[in-house]
Parts: sequence; C-alpha cells; structure tokens
Amino acid sequence: MMPDTDYDSLLAQAKGLFDGEHDKIANAANLSALVYNTIPGLNWVGFYFFDGKELVLGPFQGKPACIRIALNKGVCGTAAATRRIQRVDDVHTFDGHIACDADSNSELVVPLVRNGELVGVWDVDSPLLARFNPEDEVGMQALCTLFLESYK
Ligand code: SME
Repeated sequence: MMPDTDYDSLLAQAKGLFDGEHDKIANAANLSALVYNTIPGLNWVGFYFFDGKELVLGPFQGKPACIRIALNKGVCGTAAATRRIQRVDDVHTFDGHIACDADSNSELVVPLVRNGELVGVWDVDSPLLARFNPEDEVGMQALCTLFLESYK
C-alpha cells in the first residue's frame, strides 16, 4: 500500500508554480514534473491535448509515449469522449487499453473541460495494480481545475 497523497500540499505547490504564469505548455510541463516527482509509485504522468480531432501528446514525465489517440480509444480516449474520469485498477482488463508503457498496470485519467469545451486529458499511470483510490480522483481533479484556471 502506498501512503495517502497530501493533495493540499500538492495544490499549494502547483499554485506556487503557476503564480503569475499563464502559459499553458509551461504550466502543463511543471504540473507533470511536480506530480511525477512527488507521488510515489508512478511511471508516467502527463497531458494529451485535443486538437479538434484527436488527442495529441503534450508535456509529460516518463518513457516516450504514443503520440496520437483517437477519441473513444483506450482509457484516455474514453475519458475524453465521455468526459468522465476513468479510474482503472487493472488496465489489462480495460477493453481497448493502449499499452504505451508495458510497465503500466493501473491508470487514472481526468478529462479536461474548460468553458464546456474539451481541452484534453490528464493521464497518470502506475506499475502497481489498483494504485489509485477515490481520494486520488478528487485530488487529481482539483489539480486539473487549478491548471485549467492557470492559463489564458
Ligand atoms: N494507456 C493509455 C495511453 C496513454 S499512455 O498510458 C501514456 C490509454 O489506454 O489511453
């Protein structure tokens, strides 16, 4: 079992990183680095942005990943198409899961929606089975809200 993540502290640190900075890519890159280096038991953390047609790889930490994901494909595409958080305890049981990194066993994907429009998804992977719990859903969602408010 992993220790519970202190999301209040993470949110405060993210606020500090975003303070006065309104560049989407810069803030996405720093949020990826913050989460990857703070939360234990992760092997991939990052963004896919919606280009109007499909999801395209954005700033991330971890091994090189798939670049384009169609809406509805895999965990990320499902989160984007349904606009619902996907928390998957065992990705190998998820129909259509895209194995970018063979080490991944569980995954949490938050859809990013701003002013009613799909911006992309925030994707967090773990080599551990069932790494993420409902508190992680709430915490990651809060970090994503902060990110969505951080850029122009
Ligand atoms: N596993 C994801 C693809 C993205 S990678 O994990 C970085 C999916 O099924 O959508």
